[in-house]
Amino acid sequence: MDAIDVIATKRDGGELSPEQIDWVIAAYTRGEVAEEQMAALNMAIVWRGMTRAEVGRWTEAMLASGERLDFSDLGVPTTDKHSTGGVGDKITLPLTPTVAACGAAVPQLSGRGLGHTGGTLDKLESVPGWRAEVSPAGMRRMLLDVGGVICAAGTGLAPADRKLYALRDVTGTVESIPLIASSIMSKKLAEGTGALVLDVKVGSGAFMKDVASARELARTMVGIGTDHGVRTVALLTAMDTPLGRTVGNALEVAESLEVLAGGGPPDVVELTVTLAREMLAAAGLDDAADPAEALRDGSAMDAWRRMVAAQGGDPDAPLPVAAETHQVPAAESGVLTRLDAHAVGVAAWRLGAGRARKEDPVSAGAGVTLHAKPGDRVRAGQPLFTLHTDDPGRLDHAAEALSDACAFGGGHTPLPLVIDRVE
Ligand code: URA
Repeated sequence: MDAIDVIATKRDGGELSPEQIDWVIAAYTRGEVAEEQMAALNMAIVWRGMTRAEVGRWTEAMLASGERLDFSDLGVPTTDKHSTGGVGDKITLPLTPTVAACGAAVPQLSGRGLGHTGGTLDKLESVPGWRAEVSPAGMRRMLLDVGGVICAAGTGLAPADRKLYALRDVTGTVESIPLIASSIMSKKLAEGTGALVLDVKVGSGAFMKDVASARELARTMVGIGTDHGVRTVALLTAMDTPLGRTVGNALEVAESLEVLAGGGPPDVVELTVTLAREMLAAAGLDDAADPAEALRDGSAMDAWRRMVAAQGGDPDAPLPVAAETHQVPAAESGVLTRLDAHAVGVAAWRLGAGRARKEDPVSAGAGVTLHAKPGDRVRAGQPLFTLHTDDPGRLDHAAEALSDACAFGGGHTPLPLVIDRVE
């Protein structure tokens, strides 16, 4: 087999054979296909696309490049959620303990943030003492004892994707539905969950800017999951404006604790409960406890405290706060009709909540608090945002990102939070 033949097949609009796919992924993982050759193949895939059979085989080959966890003998149904990433998307934090409190086991392998979207592990690492690394045996123990675990994926899971994603990130080849779908699904299938709910974000703060492409991504991922025997459902949810009222690591943990205490912003609560019900149904737990009740009666909070403590965290320790805060007032009066998710994500990133390169540290306290959401009436001069940072030198650059984030008008028709469901 020859890398140039594989590249030429796709470049000319042909379908890659299963043998070509298996070979190119395995040889690339071993370092026998050069980075520039894989970059050329990725770009050909961006332009030419892939058939369902090709995406399935590509995913399979990435899955086969590493180990696969297996919790099928746990005695409790496993179920997980994956979000394609958004601004203020802290849902995994209240969701995992809520679903665990309702009787399912949740093996949640999460990532760190890159660019303007945050990462669940960065958020949780703002809890003093909490550690992201858990061995497969430790995951199994937590699933049995606590019902849920949120941790970093070990380097042994889908190593082909780890290498490929780093290459796509620097070669302008992230934006491809087959490549995104196979990347996400190879990791989720390797994690060993029995059921999976995908939260496919749509809007300015998401990878998918329009409903049609989000629906195509959702269908592709649901097809891969189903073909691999994992009951998979996708929801398309709005990401034109940030979720909740906070964007930033410790700020989002604090907001998640409000939700776990039975309060919190209505959009975060609604999405947590909706996804929890989907996860329980996908796991076949139709008569499980009601997630809304688990948030009200404290059982979800109890599960959170046990999960945090099991990974070395102190659930009672105060969360870090940023050294400096700065308020940004509303420039005019009226009903807030637009609060752009991407702009707020960029501002939080510039304040230190996110990283530009994988090896950069993040600030736990940095981020943005939103004092109004679309539909709220505001008066000129009233605080619209609070910026939090450890480095006051970052404030101007962050405020610049927000200069065009808002629109004001007379009326407002909000997008539904859940736009569509694909199964
Ligand atoms: N997240 C992933 O894990 N992979 C992609 O390709 C895009 C988002």
